[in-house]
Amino acid sequence: MTRTQPQTSLPPSLLPTLAGRYYTDPAVFAAEQEKIFEQLWFCAVRSADLPVAGDFRTVQIGRESVLVSRARDGSLRAFLNICRHRGATLCTQESGSVKRSFQCPYHAWTYGLDGKLIAAPNLASMPDIDRTEYGLHTVHLREWLGYAWVCLAASPPSFEQDVRGAVIERLGDLASIERYRTEELSVGRRITYDVKANWKLIVENFMECYHCATIHPELTEVLPEFADGYAAQYYVGHGAEFGESVDGFTIDGGSGFERLDGVAAEQDRRYYAITIRPQVFVNLVPDHVIFHRMYPLAVDRTVVECDWLYSPEVVASGRDVSKSVELFHRVNEQDFDACERCQPGMSSRAYVDGGVLMPSEHHIGEFHAWVSGLVAES
Ligand code: FES
Ligand code: FE
Repeated sequence: MTRTQPQTSLPPSLLPTLAGRYYTDPAVFAAEQEKIFEQLWFCAVRSADLPVAGDFRTVQIGRESVLVSRARDGSLRAFLNICRHRGATLCTQESGSVKRSFQCPYHAWTYGLDGKLIAAPNLASMPDIDRTEYGLHTVHLREWLGYAWVCLAASPPSFEQDVRGAVIERLGDLASIERYRTEELSVGRRITYDVKANWKLIVENFMECYHCATIHPELTEVLPEFADGYAAQYYVGHGAEFGESVDGFTIDGGSGFERLDGVAAEQDRRYYAITIRPQVFVNLVPDHVIFHRMYPLAVDRTVVECDWLYSPEVVASGRDVSKSVELFHRVNEQDFDACERCQPGMSSRAYVDGGVLMPSEHHIGEFHAWVSGLVAES
């Protein structure tokens, strides 16, 4: 039987990947849920999806169901979606709208939009019950780039460092992303992908472009430098330039829409990709932004929600966004197919010791060290 080379004897050009069990072992996934998704800032919903008081969405974060809703004062709130009485799931729908309260379908405990317990059968005869004390458990929430980021940790890590810092690390500054004013853009299209692969395979794939020439013919047509295998994320501040004959970031390179207000001239005709660990990818092009949120649901299953964001005028006027949506939708399908093709291999004896990273992928090693460091922490 052929064994993979012991990882200690790799030639200098190669770095080791994580071992196969990191992608298949439910115990590793449980540790990631606890140490990563339930500890770090997690991008949960697009704020504008909940425009009116009472609008809500439930999302799975680590082992928890989290309820994000719009309160009467107009702010977004996040709570654990669990009734304080006997633990029933409060909202069973993925999204919806309530008039003024959330009522548990089991014994009818009722919570205000601020999470406070406002009614329960026989509650009036029990003045010793503190309605705030028995309200829903609050989850930390911050809004940035038009999205609500939540954190389940009692003391959240620094949002500046972990979330905004990731963008600075990639682009060199915050202005380079804030110029796209993503919070003011409208969703032109949203596609949800149910990917039968571990979330780390999706992150690793997004971080490298060694695969671009093989699986992304349309993308490399628009961004010829990607054919060399070096991802835009490889160099700080670098945006991949459109090909000379390319007019826009569209499936056939035909023209897109007007450059978004505020986007700098030096960012025109360029594509920037940013990974915000653990579960967000942002893609910036002159006339739109593509924003991915991953929801890791099992060791071998990840739901990815992808928003194509355009200027409100483009969306309101009903202009055809399909040519630009089609380009990255195809890229997504090509990438997720590749990830799904790797997932079964992760449990093969051929991958017990993992694989190797080529030089254009070496930066993925830092992601591996980050994951294994967090998971190993006691
Ligand atoms: Fe919710 Fe009883 S479990 S009211
Ligand atoms: Fe790709």
